[in-house]
Amino acid sequence: MYFKEVRLKNFRNYKDESVIFHPKVNLITGRNAQGKTNLIESLYIMSLGKSFRTNKDREMIAFDEDYCIVRCIYIKEDRENEIEMIISQKGKSIKVDGARIGKTSQLLDNVYTVVFSPEDLKIVKDEPEKRRRFIDRELCQLKPVYYKELQRYKKILLQRNTLLKKGVNDATMLDVWDKSLAEYGSRIVEKRKDFVDKLNILSRKIHSRITNGKEELDLEYESNILSNGEIRNIENDFLEKLKKSRKRDILRGITNFGPHKDDIKIIINDIDARNYGSQGQQRTAALSLKLAEIQLIKEEKGEDAILLLDDVLSELDKERQEFLIDTLSDTQLFITTTEIDNVLLDSIQSGYVFEVSSGRVEKTLTK
Ligand SMILES: Nc1ncnc2c1ncn2[C@@H]1O[C@H](COP(=O)(O)OP(=O)(O)OP(=O)(O)O)[C@@H](O)[C@H]1O
Ligand SMILES: [Mg+2]
Repeated sequence: MYFKEVRLKNFRNYKDESVIFHPKVNLITGRNAQGKTNLIESLYIMSLGKSFRTNKDREMIAFDEDYCIVRCIYIKEDRENEIEMIISQKGKSIKVDGARIGKTSQLLDNVYTVVFSPEDLKIVKDEPEKRRRFIDRELCQLKPVYYKELQRYKKILLQRNTLLKKGVNDATMLDVWDKSLAEYGSRIVEKRKDFVDKLNILSRKIHSRITNGKEELDLEYESNILSNGEIRNIENDFLEKLKKSRKRDILRGITNFGPHKDDIKIIINDIDARNYGSQGQQRTAALSLKLAEIQLIKEEKGEDAILLLDDVLSELDKERQEFLIDTLSDTQLFITTTEIDNVLLDSIQSGYVFEVSSGRVEKTLTK
């Protein structure tokens, strides 16, 4: 699958711009603050319905405007499809092939993208929340029902915590929240565990190839409730832990157990890479995870996800850069960079080079 075209109106620093893309490599060059990441962001929202940079959709509307429109044409199984998103101060509306959809979850199964930015290079050493967000983002694309379950879980958790903070007079009310929390929480844990197990199989192979067999990568889903086995057992275990920690929860006004505390353990050669990995090891592991993600989408969806590389290629050494470009010969690539690197340019077999300047995009080279 690939993006064929995007049209931006009042989107960040773009007034009104259309760009036709190459099915393989799109190298987006330009000085700082010209709109390179904005362009990548516009493509990303076509797949996940929200930005990877902000939770506030409104921030994407150009200053002094009331609304913005992003429209893309993408090719999937040789067919043209269209997605349009209008963001106004009040909210957003999305159309897929001309038909309005009511919920973001209905957008998720159309275009698959994987973004890789300098932020993602830090994923191994960052706080657990970043790794949870990574799993959540990917699971939303792989299983749109997960998106709904996660929203639901977050809402119940918020309500439970609000009750805890207010002071619990009525224990039966808390019983009700506990039951719902365990019901949705167990679904989340089950799917996340399955995702991490699958990712583990794929990323180990990739990591071993990148490091010429010198390093063995191992991922494990880490939870403070049971994460193995049948969903019923997971749910019961969660419920039991909620009961046991009820006193402490009330005292602190927070929920101490549940998937909102989970993490991925990342082990390289038997050492916990989150705390003890070298910077190079951590970066390589991040690259392995991203490449595994693309393979997993291919396995589960039968489609090549589109890879958005924002400012990250120049952060990798030549060997890693080549590995990435060689492995992804079937993937549409978007690469942003401030400096055109001739080695990189030579390694591109076919693609377009664009130059972005003050919200205008110009094609400067066809290969
Ligand atoms: N809502 C908005 N309306 C208008 N302009 C905006 C809006 N949001 C961001 N910008 C502008 O967009 C520009 C930044 O664009 P972007 O982040 O795409 O830059 P970039 O080309 O990726 O730069 P860098 O190389 O530094 O990463 C900034 O000048 C910023 O002021
Ligand atoms: Mg940028």
